[in-house]
Amino acid sequence: MNYDLDALKKTLAGKLIGCPIYYYHQIESTNIEAHSLALDGALEGTVVLADSQWGGKGRFQRSWHSPPSANIYTSIILRPQIPLSSASQIPILAGVAVAETLHQYCPGRIQLKWPNDVLIGEKKISGILSQAKMTAKHLDFIILGIGINVNMNHGHFSEEIRETATSLTMEAGREISRQDVLISLYENLGKWYKHLTQQGFDGVKRKWLSLTSMIGRDVEIVFQNEIIRGKATDLNEDGSLILITSENREIKVSAGDVVKTR
Ligand code: BTN
Repeated sequence: MNYDLDALKKTLAGKLIGCPIYYYHQIESTNIEAHSLALDGALEGTVVLADSQWGGKGRFQRSWHSPPSANIYTSIILRPQIPLSSASQIPILAGVAVAETLHQYCPGRIQLKWPNDVLIGEKKISGILSQAKMTAKHLDFIILGIGINVNMNHGHFSEEIRETATSLTMEAGREISRQDVLISLYENLGKWYKHLTQQGFDGVKRKWLSLTSMIGRDVEIVFQNEIIRGKATDLNEDGSLILITSENREIKVSAGDVVKTR
């Protein structure tokens, strides 16, 4: 089903996230467009939404498969007044907001994998790509690029990710309105963003911890061809994952992909 843009704009009018909304039938990447709008001074809460992307971007220069009429591809511009050292709290918050949104369709089955992959039963249903622009002292803006697999079927995924990806329709067993998911996503993002900026990171962190099964487990994290192993013990204030190594050393990992959890 296509988006009803007039209804969408009416619903989002005056909201913290989603006003104004720039919609594209096809675009290279909503993140690229949001980045250029932000450089031109677009206000906080401005969003870019596309039906399909021909150059969808994933983390670590991967591509994000973005076929038409099925999924959500959106990028949100935020201008948080927080210290530079807290910038990584924002993508953590985004994972929480996506998980809460998807929970309504698959209650009790949504899991977060650090830093912010959203999974159902070990399969990825959503990915978040955040890009920040900062000066030496100041956070100028953050783009939160969010992709959610909504109405994809098993055979629609590229072979590469077919066995490791899932969608809302596959999990809920019915077609899902992208528009409803999107409205709820912007609402939850606004709610958690307000929470973070007004009350700090504690509540976001508690919610994140309640949605992950990684804590207390042995994990392997890959970053730039290096493998870091340890038991995950906590989420740090700056969004990094705290591990205890087999030599009983505490380390904080701020980037990477979790490739194994035992
Ligand atoms: C990941 O690798 O898990 C992050 C994927 C992020 C994909 C989304 S889709 C909307 C936005 N535009 C992009 O080009 N990428 C993000």
